[in-house]
Amino acid sequence: MKFFIDTANLGHIREAHELGILDGVTTNPSLMAKEGISGQANIGNHYRAICEIVVGDVSAEVIATDFKGMVEEGKRLADLAENIVVKVPMIKDGVKAIAHFVEIGIRTNCTLVFSAAQAILAAKAGASYVSPFIGRIDDTNWDGMLLIKEMAEIYAIQGYETEILAASIRSSRHIVEAAKNGADIVTCPLSAILGMLKHPLTDIGLEQFLADHRKVNG
Ligand code: E4P
Repeated sequence: MKFFIDTANLGHIREAHELGILDGVTTNPSLMAKEGISGQANIGNHYRAICEIVVGDVSAEVIATDFKGMVEEGKRLADLAENIVVKVPMIKDGVKAIAHFVEIGIRTNCTLVFSAAQAILAAKAGASYVSPFIGRIDDTNWDGMLLIKEMAEIYAIQGYETEILAASIRSSRHIVEAAKNGADIVTCPLSAILGMLKHPLTDIGLEQFLADHRKVNG
C-alpha cells in the first residue's frame, strides 16, 4: 500500500518525505486555504513547491464545477509539473471531464466519493485514482471501511485499473483497516502517519535496553 500525505503544508510534506515513506500528496481547496494560499499565481507556485519535494503524484483540485471550466483549469494545473494529477469532484460534469482528461492524457483523482455506485462511475470514466472519504462516512454513523472493501471487490471482479485512494483518514487505526480492506493508497495527515510509530511497549522496551546497557557500560 502506498502512502500519500493529505496536506498543503510544506513543512509536513518535507517531514513525511524525510521519513522515507512518502509516495505522493493530496490537497484540496480547504487545505490550500488553511495554508493561506490564494490567487491563481500563488496556487500554481505552491503546487510547484510541493512537486519539488516529492517525486510521486500530487493531486491538485479544480475549483470549477462546470465541464468547460474544469477542463481549462485542469489543463493549467497539469502543465505545472509532470507529477500533477487533476482532482475532480464526483459530479455529472466531473465524470464527463474525467473521461475527456483520459482522451488528452491527463491523469485524474475523482474526489468526494461516498458510495460504490460513484466509485464504479469514476473507474468507468477512467480516473487514475478514486478517493472514498472514510472519516466523513464514519461521521454519519456508517462504516467507511465497508466502502473500501466493496470497492476493492468490485474493482477486482471488473478488472478496473483505477487505484483506491482511501481519504479522510483520521487515525493510524484507519490506515491499518484501509490496508486490510484492499486500499491501494492511504492519504493521511502527518499526525496519523506519526501515530503509527507509537506503542507503549516499544518505549518501555527501549528504556529497559538502554538502562541495561548503561549498567555495564557506564
Ligand atoms: C482527500 O483527498 C481529501 O483531501 C481529504 O482526505 C479530506 O479529509 P477530511 O475529511 O479530513 O477533510
